[in-house]
Amino acid sequence: PTLTLVEHNGTEHQVTGEIGQSVMQAAMFASVPGIQGDCGGACSCATCHAYVDDQWQAQVAEAEGAEADMLEYASERRASSRLTCQLVISEALEGLVLHLPESQY
Ligand code: FES
Repeated sequence: PTLTLVEHNGTEHQVTGEIGQSVMQAAMFASVPGIQGDCGGACSCATCHAYVDDQWQAQVAEAEGAEADMLEYASERRASSRLTCQLVISEALEGLVLHLPESQY
């Protein structure tokens, strides 16, 4: 599936990931600036933070559990905030649009 990650400055990146891979892994592999993934996907750094596009909020679940707790440390958290290491790529996410925060810190 191919996803679109939009940087804070509006630059769009098309990222193709494997099913079962996290969005963070796919974004890091594609060297998308703005996704840091400092903890390697262990849900313990909040530097893989992104916002789910308005059009996609019905299809993508809100953060819960450990992810929601970790988002407390993310900069400018919103209702649409997710940690992309906890967002697993599936067929259903084909075309997903995510927006990156201005900064991960
Ligand atoms: Fe650290 Fe997602 S990569 S919380």
